[in-house]
Amino acid sequence: MTETPVTGDVTESAGGPGAASRPAPVPSATPAPLASRTSGASRTSGAPADDVIRTRGLTKRFRGGQLAVDGLDLTVPRGSVFGFLGPNGSGKTTTIRMLMGLIAPTSGTATVLGESMPQSVATVLPRVGALIEGPALYGFLSGRDNLVRFDAADPTADPRTRRERVEAALERVGLSAAAGKKARAYSLGMKQRLGLAAALLQPRELLVLDEPTNGLDPQGMREIRALVREVAAEGTTVFLSSHLLDEIEQVCTHAAVMSRGRLVVQGTVTELAARAQGRLVVRTPDVAQAAEVLAAHQVGALVPGEGRVDGELGASVDEALPKLCAALVEAGVRVHGFGLERGTLEDAFVALTGEGFDVAG
Ligand SMILES: Nc1ncnc2c1ncn2[C@@H]1O[C@H](COP(=O)(O)OP(=O)(O)OP(=O)(O)O)[C@@H](O)[C@H]1O
Ligand SMILES: [Mg+2]
Repeated sequence: MTETPVTGDVTESAGGPGAASRPAPVPSATPAPLASRTSGASRTSGAPADDVIRTRGLTKRFRGGQLAVDGLDLTVPRGSVFGFLGPNGSGKTTTIRMLMGLIAPTSGTATVLGESMPQSVATVLPRVGALIEGPALYGFLSGRDNLVRFDAADPTADPRTRRERVEAALERVGLSAAAGKKARAYSLGMKQRLGLAAALLQPRELLVLDEPTNGLDPQGMREIRALVREVAAEGTTVFLSSHLLDEIEQVCTHAAVMSRGRLVVQGTVTELAARAQGRLVVRTPDVAQAAEVLAAHQVGALVPGEGRVDGELGASVDEALPKLCAALVEAGVRVHGFGLERGTLEDAFVALTGEGFDVAG
């Protein structure tokens, strides 16, 4: 595996052997990556400054032959909360690892904050806070002391204000009370919070979070969502991966959907959800009669149910709705409820890929 040393604020454990015990990089021992010597030339011309992440044809084929990421063209606008969505094994973490310069792409390009990766890893990473598949922690140190180590590994962090930064980060992720406990005694959710705290030690231009709510209970998930919104409100672009559709819908302004290493679609969450057209739902005790009227007015895919019937509208929803409502009433159908049920991202995903949201083989 071609791993590039990273500065202290990127925490990664890919779950590989020994990952959890891998020591955090120490600044003086971190060799300057090749990139720092060539970074002047590595700025990619033509990448608009408004795009915080931009990839073109980004591809990763692992040595075993697995094509994990296939020709990815991703554009993450500045100021967005960008959800990177896809089922297990669809290539999210592999993409993030390429973006952070942790692995080299097989082909294609990636720019982060306007600079080429992995060449500019040394200048880009200090501007990025990242949490990738759970943090690498020292189990024998307390949560607090792990953060002190992460902070000390950041050459830009002033040691005089270290304590304050660490306490503020612990407070932000709700770990102040458990900060003295050894990290090996932390639950999965507590470890995840500690990783987030490490990513939040400094204000950053970009926060990259790989499955930030992994292992958290519903209350913890809500807290992380609130935290993401707060960080975004401070002006940080947030790029977060998830396989949870409703999580993305709740917190993100933009999203990209991955399936089997390929980008299926990207855009604003509103646009994406709108692609999954809502279904017309009529609530009535006269189900059969209502279905008949709707069928006569070109409503397709009718599904009669208990006290309701729903179906698919054609293209011009705004025109169709008042006509349908009038037709139902005219036919003597007792209409108790009438409206559109909004499509979800999951509907959009299924409509776009023809697949369920399941793990690809
Ligand atoms: N080091 C590796 N060597 C070989 N194949 C790998 C390696 N890492 C990942 N893969 C494969 O690449 C594909 C994408 O994996 P990746 O971890 O990027 O998915 P993901 O979208 O992050 O999934 P999850 O939601 O489960 O975290 C999978 O088929 C996986 O088995
Ligand atoms: Mg992953």
